[in-house]
Formats: sequence, C-alpha cells, structure tokens
Amino acid sequence: MQEREKFGSRLGFILVSAGCAVGLGNVWKFPYMCGQYGGAAFILIYLVFLAILGFPIMVCEFSVGRGSQKSCATSFKELEPEGSKWHNFGYFGMVGNYVLMMFYTMVAGWMLYYCYRSLTGEFTGTPLNTDQVAEKFTGMLASPGTLTFWMILAVVISFGICSLGVQKGVEKITKIMMLCLLGLILVLAVHSVLLPGAGAGVKFYLVPDFAAMKENGIGNVIFGAMSQAFFTLSIGIGSMAIFGSYLDKDRSLTGETVSITLLDTFVALMAGLIIIPACFSFGIEPGTGPSLIFITLPNIFNQMAGGRIWGTLFFLFLSFAALSTVIAVFENIISFAIDLWGWERKKAVAVNIVAIILLSMPCILGFNVLSGIQPLGPKTGIMDMEDFLVSNNLLPLGSLVYLGFCTSRYGWGWKNFIKEANAGKGMGFPEILKGYMTYILPIIVIVIYLKGYYDMFAPKGLKYLIPWMIVAIAFLALIAWFAFGGKRNEAKEN
Ligand code: ALA
Repeated sequence: MQEREKFGSRLGFILVSAGCAVGLGNVWKFPYMCGQYGGAAFILIYLVFLAILGFPIMVCEFSVGRGSQKSCATSFKELEPEGSKWHNFGYFGMVGNYVLMMFYTMVAGWMLYYCYRSLTGEFTGTPLNTDQVAEKFTGMLASPGTLTFWMILAVVISFGICSLGVQKGVEKITKIMMLCLLGLILVLAVHSVLLPGAGAGVKFYLVPDFAAMKENGIGNVIFGAMSQAFFTLSIGIGSMAIFGSYLDKDRSLTGETVSITLLDTFVALMAGLIIIPACFSFGIEPGTGPSLIFITLPNIFNQMAGGRIWGTLFFLFLSFAALSTVIAVFENIISFAIDLWGWERKKAVAVNIVAIILLSMPCILGFNVLSGIQPLGPKTGIMDMEDFLVSNNLLPLGSLVYLGFCTSRYGWGWKNFIKEANAGKGMGFPEILKGYMTYILPIIVIVIYLKGYYDMFAPKGLKYLIPWMIVAIAFLALIAWFAFGGKRNEAKEN
C-alpha cells in the first residue's frame, strides 16, 4: 500500500478546501438567487443557515476524514463499532461525488467556453441586441459537439492536475488558482460598484427588502437559502472529508472550518457585488434566474466600455471557481479507487477520465437530442434531475449520516468526534452544541428534505408527487439502514 500523501502547508489545506466549496454555487446560483429573492433579506437567512447548519456538519466531515485517514469510501469502515452498517454509506458518498460531476463538468465547460467567447470578442465585436446574446446561449445548448468539447477540456485539465499528486498537483495549482480568483474578485467588484448608477444595486444588495421576500413566498426563500448552504459548502458526500484525511494533527478543526466557511461566504457575497450593481447600472433586471450570467451579463459587457476585457476577466474568475471544485471532487474520486483497491494514482486517473466523460454525456444530450426526457416535470431536463438528486437528496441526507455518526454512541460517538475535532492548536469545538446536533439539527435537515420534495412536486400534480415521494421515502429508509441496520455495539470511549 502506498503511503498517504499530506498537504504541504496549512494554507494549502485551507485554500484547497475553500476551492472545493467555492464554485458554481457561489458565482452562479448565489447571485441569481439573491436577484430573485430580494437581495439582502435572502442573504441574511443564508448566513444564518451557514452558521447553524453548514459549520457544525463541516467539522464532522473533517473529523471523520482526519480520524480515519481515508476518503469517504472507507472512512466509516475504519471508525465504526464492529457489526454496524455505517460503512455502506461509503458507496452513497461515492455515488454523490460522481453524480455531482455528471453535470458540474458540463457547466465548468460553459465557463471555459464563455471565457473564450469573451476573449475573442464575440459579445463585443459588433453591438448585439439582447435576443442575439440569448441566441448564443441557446445555440450552445443545442450543439452536443460544442458542449462535449468544452466538457472534455474541463475534465482533462482537472484530472491532469490531480495526476500530479496531492502536493505537486492539487495543492500547488489550486493555491495559485484561488489566489488569482481572490485578486480578480477585488478588481471586478471595485470596477462594478464604481459604474455610474451602481449605487442602487449596492443598496438592493445591502438593505433587506422583506416585501420582495414575501412576494416570493417566505417558505420558498427559506428553503432556497437552506439548500444553498449545503450546496455551497459541498457537505454531506465526503467531498470535504478527504481533505481532513490529508491533514496532520497540528491544528484543531474548528478554527480551520471557520476560515473555510468565511472564505466561501466572502466569494459568494463578492460575486453578487460584482453582478448586481452592474445590472442596476445598465438598467437590467437581476432576477432572471439561471440565465443571469450567460445572457444578462454578456449583454452588459456588450454595452460596457472595455467590455471585452471585463467579460474575459469575469469568466476567467468563474472558470477558476468551477475548476477548483472539479479538481477537489476528482481528487475524491481518485482516492476512492486508491483506498478501495490500492490502485496507482495514474491508473485511477486514466480509468476515471473515461468514466466521467461518459457519465457527463446524458446531461449534455438532455439539452438537445434527449430534451424530450423531462423527469421532474415540464421544462426540466436531465441536468435538473442530476442537480436535484445531489442538492436535494444526497447532500442533506449524507449530512444527516455524518451528524448521526459523530453524535450517536452506536456510531463513532461524540467523545471520539470531539477528541478529533479538538486535536491540535486553535479553537475548540463548542461542546454545548451536543444536544442541538444530536436532536435539533437532524430534525431541521429532515424538514428541509421533505419540504423540498413537497414544494417541487405538489404543484405538478399527483402524477409526479406520488412516484417522487416513494423515492424520498426509499432514500430515508436507506439512511436509516446505515444507522440502525447492524448490531447496536457501542463505540469505544463512549
Ligand atoms: N460547493 C460547490 C459549489 O458551490 C459544489 O459549487
């Protein structure tokens, strides 16, 4: 068995983990959700969920990773009491990482393509009208060849970086990418808030408008903010845990988690600050939803002085954000094969390049040749279903497993969890949270989960609601089996 590689530096660990968290959730979903759900009012709720939900679950993930020194494929097996079934969660986490990449690689490819399109002046060469900008987006979606090419490029670049190893590849390149990303953010945000008329956008962003929130339905806004907290931190499928497994015990995990959560939040807030004031400055609605950055923004760059440069820098920033997540999740995917079967890194990379390219194809074809497949209802596609499976199922339910494992005496148990989280210098984990994490947090997660299903399918009729409710219950049963399926042996040290 090869010896497990470690991070070269503390900064490396923080930036790679933040790179895993910072991604499309921050730069794409967050700004459009802000635009739709009333700006600062939405942000306030989102921040509360990051603190009460995201933060403790991330500490659990890092602790399981560092305690086991394994990826989620085998970490539970390493730590569980004998006779229990927790180890089966390894497959669940693996599936989560693969499904996330089945659509994420394609959208990362869009970012690279839009960077290229901006650089070559496609949006600024001749003045375009809004319909022409929109046609460029729909034209891209209609072309499987274009989508496949850019997806493969994103996959090959990211696996190429992972093939160099943890320190020489993932850590070194992600560190550079994240530092460039942070630099770009500052330049773009300053430019955006200084645009004429941007002040109204800054106000929309900083002053809560509870009336706009009511218009969207407070329930929807709260649910949106909660799901976004899971997605943005990549918690629940072990994507973060792996980076705990590359750590030594110098620093306690709570302080590191606070830094990572703050960095992730900073990037999301700044992405909004780049996009929303620019929309106001050019009199364009920021509430257009997912097409905000692919139609609204190029349209703005089209009208802006120096739009070609600003557009290119903007999509470069988005590409770094997307690729830093793809690299981090690929590192997980590679380590599954290493931990489970002792494969060499190069072999794991070669096999998974092919696997991920093939697995990304249904999503691509869902926008064109397979657009008749609408699993979640009219106007939805394969990508929506994959996103739904990950964001609304695997992340919240996986988070529940991490919580149960770290708090139940029939899992790894609270004492082991606290010992691991607090090993090393730095902030200790607030033990007062034990009752909250054991009883209240799981209830919050289950409510998010069931409400998510109901909100999504009830308006579409029983034809959708019934089969999907069966899926929800099957998922819950699976989770219960991980926790209660085996012998009820107590953890050591509890
Ligand atoms: N955490 C990742 C993102 O925000 C999945 O895009």
